[in-house]
Amino acid sequence: MSPTPVSPPIAPAPTPQATAPAAAPAAGPAGQPAPERDRKAEHIRLALEQRMQLGANYFDDYHFEHAALPEIDFDAIDPGVDFLGKRLAAPLLISSMTGGTAAAALINRNLAAGAERCGIAVGLGSQRKALEDPGKADTFQVREVAPSVPLLANLGAVQLNYGLGIRECLQAVEMIGADALILHLNPLQEAIQPEGQRDFAGLLPKIGEIARALPVPVIAKEIGCGVSAATARALAGQGIRIVDTAGVGGTSWARIEGERAGDLDLGEVFAGWGIPTPLSIQQVRSVGGLTVIASGGLRNGLDVAKALALGADLAGMAFPFLQPATESPERVVEKVQRIVLELKICMFCLGVKTVAELRHAKLRKGS
Ligand code: FNR
Repeated sequence: MSPTPVSPPIAPAPTPQATAPAAAPAAGPAGQPAPERDRKAEHIRLALEQRMQLGANYFDDYHFEHAALPEIDFDAIDPGVDFLGKRLAAPLLISSMTGGTAAAALINRNLAAGAERCGIAVGLGSQRKALEDPGKADTFQVREVAPSVPLLANLGAVQLNYGLGIRECLQAVEMIGADALILHLNPLQEAIQPEGQRDFAGLLPKIGEIARALPVPVIAKEIGCGVSAATARALAGQGIRIVDTAGVGGTSWARIEGERAGDLDLGEVFAGWGIPTPLSIQQVRSVGGLTVIASGGLRNGLDVAKALALGADLAGMAFPFLQPATESPERVVEKVQRIVLELKICMFCLGVKTVAELRHAKLRKGS
């Protein structure tokens, strides 16, 4: 890929609002597990800081051909799509983020209620701690505020090497009444994380076992380093039918875990590691038969449109929804509405009324 990541400005985001989680104490030294409550709070606190964003938008390198004569009525544009057997009002997913603490519970409820009002899909963060401590399950249980939209359960795939199996995956799905289970792939995060779990050997067949055993689809997802064609093909060979790119370009888990490990230099070496999201979309799309979710650094409705034109079926975002979710469902709704407006303006200026047409729009790389 030609775009060169630029260093982000070292400017912290505005101070989180009153309902945001309080700053957590620093993590223990490398190798020492940090208490889970601290880790979740630290992830939210650090992810809210602008300096944890890569600072390069790889979608800026792509350009649509403007239609000065679109020949459509703006009001006739319908960005709706089908996902997991449900109709979405827009091709959007709020990507998995959190759970396990009171602050995380509030974030999840705000995200879920906002998603329901807007008719888009929503994911929850890793449910591992709720499997270990059922008292934490309620921090993920948001079905009552999101009865109709696709709700995605979440576990780390590496947990399949640390005691989790079919039973626990099923429990995670049933715990929240999920429409699908995301198994996230995060080798870089685990490698830098002080308490990281790094045995990724033999995971692929175990992912396949889960995909075959569960009554709902299993989605394989990175968390910010992207999925290659080779990885997507291997996953497809194991029965995975939905892949979320979560490519590089947005939230940098290398930076977040580098900060938590007290080793900013290590985080910086790997801050831009991975497959830029536009490239990952094309690579995963090249593998036949997959539903492709584009995520990782999408920041507005124009990025969403470009992701769809590059071959994605759906677009996911985490960071853009985090700050609004610390405030209220209304802030989440406003954010979704803004993204949908941007997407519709783009569709209007391309002269396309549906996502199916948008996916055939001409997109040029380079200036
Ligand atoms: C995440 N992400 C994430 N992903 C996952 O599969 N399980 C998880 O538990 C989490 N936890 C989490 C916490 C926070 C605070 C953030 C911001 C993100 C990763 C997320 O779903 C997404 O893949 C990446 O953040 C890249 O997308 P953005 O942020 O660049 O839009």
